[in-house]
Amino acid sequence: MTTSTSESDIQLDPVALLNERFTAGIARAFPDAAGRADALIAPSKKATMGDFQCNAAMALGKMVGQKPRDVAEAIVAAVDIGDIAQPLDATSIAGPGFINITLRSDALAGLLGELGRPDLGLPPASEPQTIVVDLCGVNLAKQMHVGHIRAIVIGDAIARTFERLGHKVIRQNHVGDWGLPIAMVVDYLHREREAGRLDLDTLSLDDLDVIYKAMKKRTGAGRTGLQIAQKLDLGPKVIAELEAEVADADEALAEAKSTLIALQAGEEWAVALWQRISDITMGACIAACQRMHTRITLEASAGESSYRDELAPMVEDLIKRNVAEEDGGALVVRGEGKDPPALVRKGDGGFLYATTDIAAIRRRVQEFGASRVIYCVDVRQALHFRQVFAAAHKAGYATTPDGVEASLEHAAFGTILGTDNKPFKTRSGESVKLQDLLDEAHDRARAAADRSDHVSDADREKTAETVAMTALKFADLSTDRVRDYVFDFDRILAFEGDTGPYLLNALVRIKSIFREAQQRGVDAEWAEAELRVEHEAEKQLAMALLRYPSVVRAVAEHLEPHRLCQQLLEIATRFSSFYQSCKVLGAEDEATRASRLRLCELTARVLEDGLDVLGLPTLDRM
Ligand code: ARG
Repeated sequence: MTTSTSESDIQLDPVALLNERFTAGIARAFPDAAGRADALIAPSKKATMGDFQCNAAMALGKMVGQKPRDVAEAIVAAVDIGDIAQPLDATSIAGPGFINITLRSDALAGLLGELGRPDLGLPPASEPQTIVVDLCGVNLAKQMHVGHIRAIVIGDAIARTFERLGHKVIRQNHVGDWGLPIAMVVDYLHREREAGRLDLDTLSLDDLDVIYKAMKKRTGAGRTGLQIAQKLDLGPKVIAELEAEVADADEALAEAKSTLIALQAGEEWAVALWQRISDITMGACIAACQRMHTRITLEASAGESSYRDELAPMVEDLIKRNVAEEDGGALVVRGEGKDPPALVRKGDGGFLYATTDIAAIRRRVQEFGASRVIYCVDVRQALHFRQVFAAAHKAGYATTPDGVEASLEHAAFGTILGTDNKPFKTRSGESVKLQDLLDEAHDRARAAADRSDHVSDADREKTAETVAMTALKFADLSTDRVRDYVFDFDRILAFEGDTGPYLLNALVRIKSIFREAQQRGVDAEWAEAELRVEHEAEKQLAMALLRYPSVVRAVAEHLEPHRLCQQLLEIATRFSSFYQSCKVLGAEDEATRASRLRLCELTARVLEDGLDVLGLPTLDRM
């Protein structure tokens, strides 16, 4: 399912416009090749060759058995672009059959005028969809670490993109808050409290993290060691020690199981402890989400526990309708392809991560009415999602009440690496706490803010925080999401290069132009003045700005925020060239100054809108 341009949207993107015109021209000139030949519009490599070129003639020549040059001539004769570009003729054809295209300045100015509408060329969707975005996905009693940045930042940016396009977005934070691991922590807290060793009021997430790890270790202790020791016959003493460890692990596990049963039965003492763990974890989680300038709230959290009563009846339904089948004592749902089946019930009757995710799809599609469900989760869970999606489709749970098959999509992301190209860890080899990472980014940005004369003392703290969050988020959003990326504080916080601070700087610079205009008493009539696109740098800026709406739509379609990051960088870079080569306030005449002020204003609006779509906070000075 796509969120492509609706009929009422005006096409502003020069590349798309040229593609449309050339595709139509090719269809007229070569009806047999229509629909098969790509117009292949690309930016020109050299400014002297025009703005764009059409490279269709080469492949088309092969297809129709003619010389590319003749094909190019036929295309030139058939294409109708006089209203947006210099007329094409034989001199437009270069080399074997490249067609050079130069856009008309007045046409660009006209398109820019359209872009300048309040919606910046992105009117609300005429048929809004309901879209669920699964994001964040923390686990109770565990510290958030660096990997969570991605599920928070990319997920929220994707959600915001849909919101910008007028869709109804439901964020879902699928918290890992149920099952044996949590029961182990509840069990431990219960015992400690009975022994008078626990103060629930001062319990922190760090404490819970320690307890969680200790309990995991205790319940897993000895088992593999014992197997090895028995196999290698390491002697009675070693074996006896390991046997004691395993016995202890078994005991801890049995206790945790009985606590899980108490939790499932809703026993007050267990539920109260669980609630405390949840409050502590979610408090820290939502605070981090807020600090990172996202729209992820507590209300958007639907933990695994919220599905607990739905699992048994759902699995019964799967059995009754022959969707699930027995497999060696367990219950599975087989997909069509080569993937192993989804395991929905273990031999001991327990449900799994996959069972809950299938129930979540059913709720999201059938209760919320989502026609798209997007999972912003680590790429290492790709198989899990393929299995779960296949099972949900097979079960009919991915069909909306109106009979529409929802699109289930895994927007997978890669790992954050350290500068040594290995997964980003602390010096002692632990995963980096999210909070520590945010604090360090802040401290480094603060040091830069302290050195700036443009920031007042009162603003330094806020400036540092804004720069830090924009830098971190931009770094996470600007590379192709499925790829791993190297995290380097110095690089991402730099004001030069492909960074968030570079974008902020461009915006701040434009704002300062307007402050200066006001000081100089430039009257505001420029806002109504005629837009002119004359200088080459103005033209380049205009062409980058005009791509904005189509890039935002492409982000929604492909779930790739990095496309917008790249476009905003392009706009900022071209603005900087424009500002270097074209005087704005000191322009040669009134009309030029007014037009350039409009161009500045439009650039600022596009940058601000784009930063907001990505969820990057901005500022007025830095
Ligand atoms: N809590 C899970 C984990 O830490 C992530 C949840 C992702 N969302 C989902 N619907 N499975 O791996």
